[in-house]
Amino acid sequence: MTVRDTRARSVVKGFSWRFIGTIDTTVISYLITGNPLKALSIGGIEVFSKVFLYYVHERIWTRIKWGRKMELSSTENTPSDPSTDSNIHPVFDKLLSREERQQFLRQKSKVVWLTGLSGSGKTTIAQGLERKLLENNFFAQVLDGDNIRNGINSNLGFSMEDRQENIRRISEVAKLYKNSGVVTICTFISPTREIRSFAKNIIGEDDFLEVFINAPLEVCEERDVKGLYKKARAGEIKEFTGIDSPYENPISPDFELMTGEMSIDEAVNKLTGFLLPQIKLDQ
Ligand code: ADX
Repeated sequence: MTVRDTRARSVVKGFSWRFIGTIDTTVISYLITGNPLKALSIGGIEVFSKVFLYYVHERIWTRIKWGRKMELSSTENTPSDPSTDSNIHPVFDKLLSREERQQFLRQKSKVVWLTGLSGSGKTTIAQGLERKLLENNFFAQVLDGDNIRNGINSNLGFSMEDRQENIRRISEVAKLYKNSGVVTICTFISPTREIRSFAKNIIGEDDFLEVFINAPLEVCEERDVKGLYKKARAGEIKEFTGIDSPYENPISPDFELMTGEMSIDEAVNKLTGFLLPQIKLDQ
């Protein structure tokens, strides 16, 4: 839970601090000048000049972006925290349980989270993995960045704020799939460690498998399957990951595929090998 001051409390606090400050200035002025009238005048002038300067100072800082950090909280604005709105009455506990659904599907559900640069191979590997799982009688669903941005997230762009909202929504969707017993394969650039840890928090630490699709920027740019790197270099696309928007490599992913050095088949086989033991239901 985040505790914030109300506006009224902030205003009263501001006034009380200003009052103490003015008394302080007046007393110091009196001690120095020994003249109560001068001291009162200095105190009075100080109040008005400080209020004016404070206003100007605040206005200037609201325009400066430097040093701002977006705090992400997995419980804010999510249906998993019904206490934020007493008119919402979730019935998760009254529906079929995840265990019952897993038994029905004869599998354990996990969220496989593929992160990496655009063009690193996330989508292609996810397609291969989905097929491989089906061949092995496992039921999976791919949630892919471009697809999702074509539908429920079509109102989002690529600022850090929008990327965070993109990942928040998709994490909630992935959690619903997971709770339906489905092996959920998510392919999103999800460029920062903070964003990925946010996703992990929503989905649940034990069910989140981070897979780093590791292809160097030069390789992705060289391939440039969608022609987007060329456009980004030409300045036609702004805030493009790897060009003028950051990508932070995962520090300790659950699995890593160096896709610059292996074929897609090899990558899919390796990932399938890693995943199968984790989704097999204990008999
Ligand atoms: S994320 O950063 O919010 O996780 P997401 O995976 O949904 O991104 O979308 C990435 C896809 O959007 C890329 O594969 C690419 O096709 C497309 N795209 C369009 N503009 C950009 C951009 N500025 N940066 C990255 N990808 C972009």
